[in-house]
Amino acid sequence: MCGIVGYIGHRDAFPIIINGLKRLEYRGYDSAGLALYNDKLILKKSKGKVKDLEQLFDNQAQKKGLIGLGHTRWATHGEPNDINAHPHVSNSGNLVIVHNGIIENYDSIKQTLLQRGYRFKSDTDTEVLINLIEDVMNNEQIGLGKAVQIALNQVVGAYAIVVFDRKNPEQIVMARLGSPLAIGIGKDEYFIASDATPFIEFTKNALYLEDEQMAIIQKGKDPQIRNIKDDKLVVPYIQELQLSLDQIEKGGYEHFMLKEIYEQPGVIRDTMRGRVLADQNLIKLSGIDNHLSKFLNAKRIIMIGAGTSWHAGLVGEYLFEELARVPVEVEYSSEFRYRNPIINENDIVIPVSQSGETADTLAAIKLAKQKNAFIYAICNVVGSSIPRESHSGTYTHAGPEIGVASTKAFTTQVMVMAMMALKLAKEKGTVSISEYNMYLSELENIPNKIEKTLESDLYIQQIAHHYKDAANALYLGRGFNFPVALEGALKLKEISYIHAEGYPAAEMKHGPIALIDENMPVVVIATKKGQYEKIISNIQEIKSRKGKIIAIVTEGDQQVKALADHVIEIPETLEAFTPFLATVPLQLLSYYIAVYRGCNVDQPRNLAKSVTVE
Ligand code: F6R
Repeated sequence: MCGIVGYIGHRDAFPIIINGLKRLEYRGYDSAGLALYNDKLILKKSKGKVKDLEQLFDNQAQKKGLIGLGHTRWATHGEPNDINAHPHVSNSGNLVIVHNGIIENYDSIKQTLLQRGYRFKSDTDTEVLINLIEDVMNNEQIGLGKAVQIALNQVVGAYAIVVFDRKNPEQIVMARLGSPLAIGIGKDEYFIASDATPFIEFTKNALYLEDEQMAIIQKGKDPQIRNIKDDKLVVPYIQELQLSLDQIEKGGYEHFMLKEIYEQPGVIRDTMRGRVLADQNLIKLSGIDNHLSKFLNAKRIIMIGAGTSWHAGLVGEYLFEELARVPVEVEYSSEFRYRNPIINENDIVIPVSQSGETADTLAAIKLAKQKNAFIYAICNVVGSSIPRESHSGTYTHAGPEIGVASTKAFTTQVMVMAMMALKLAKEKGTVSISEYNMYLSELENIPNKIEKTLESDLYIQQIAHHYKDAANALYLGRGFNFPVALEGALKLKEISYIHAEGYPAAEMKHGPIALIDENMPVVVIATKKGQYEKIISNIQEIKSRKGKIIAIVTEGDQQVKALADHVIEIPETLEAFTPFLATVPLQLLSYYIAVYRGCNVDQPRNLAKSVTVE
């Protein structure tokens, strides 16, 4: 939620910040703004996208400046308009700030500042914060770094902030609590951003601020990292980034979402690389190996997550229970964190997250840790907050996911769960050796089978064209494919704005069947394994109410073909692994429907990729 980019060094800051903001637009795109300093402050803000902001800089002179801050916003306080857009400036006009997060006690601070004569132009919590920092600076007659530290100790909430003082344009101060901030370290220059993508072509050396840390960076000096609470110096940990530029470009695809759907065979191979060693009948997951007794003694696994990651957790529930015979509960992080959950000794909490920054999931982890749970994260973004807060875990290695709708993150999360469940099943002896070998060798076939599934692309485009004007859609699945139905419905609603619901197929009779008429497309996952006959009965029930049936079937299926309006074939696989294949056509279907409806597929309205506020 909200993307931040900053620069200080020897190059023009403008192109670095504008291009960086474009890469961070997935984090929010209600409005954008940019401040540059070059003898005078140039500050421009615009409702809408970064490209609208870029057009405001209509002459070269305005683009000059070796220090600058930019912001792309997902509105929390105040509607998205030019005034509420960041950066914000203090009353003196000296201090400039960008902020990602929420200051919860902003109103009481604002009242105090109003009494002290401060005035506010915007409705934002951020403008309050920058004036608080200014007030501290003036009262205590101290520098910016110390003032930021004192002011933040008066603040309740979550933030990543970056500030500079135009009277000292050699220095930038930043701090984080709950929202990410990375510093790219170049030669006599620093880049600051919400993630490393804005500076990947300039430097591979990065430093990630931890929660409750701040940094003071100054041209020609080493970065100074301090604890916000006690102002103590911290030794910086600089790491080498593994990210490359082509991973964050569209590579010839029209949208990131389509690119990411097509990347799935490759990234699932990456998820398995060095871990699934079928020739040695082995699954190597160092996180589990290092904590094997914890997993073997686990009485219960609790998966926590949000949105698509929660759906992956539901597939995980089926996988762990079926293969490793360990009870699993799947919880929304946002519910878990506020309901005093019962966590027993020998419970393992598994947070699932693409971004590693989802605020509710982070808070849920902190709560589970207080209750002495062992936390094992499944996460995509290396070095992000969720794996850092966890005791151990497994990265999905899906590469950057930029389309706001999650696709490859889901299938790679499920792959990690399949590997974990199968490994535990072997260790616990809950599957026979021959079953284990069968699962293991089929896991290796999954990427090829996804490639085969993607061959239905053109046919799915035709189906999408047919249903592009639907007002509603129903998604049904059973067993392992019930979460796939939920995920299919979520994909459709979030990018095409068609109302869609996912249900376990048998639940249809308990309510949703009332919705079915000749205008209702019903997507049914009707693969051969599992409760095939029961799904056929469900399809009959839909048909007799004239619903339009789009069925996902196993290659060669004839029975469903005779009943459904459209069938999309997927290769045969083990029942437990059908989610890998059944999900893909649903991703494509939503994608093409959204494209036909003229929707902004990669940046759907009101959404943001990384939900760092609760
Ligand atoms: C849906 C989607 C969201 C995320 C959710 C959790 O396509 O992207 O529902 O899955 O916000 O995000 P992460 O996985 O980053 O914790």
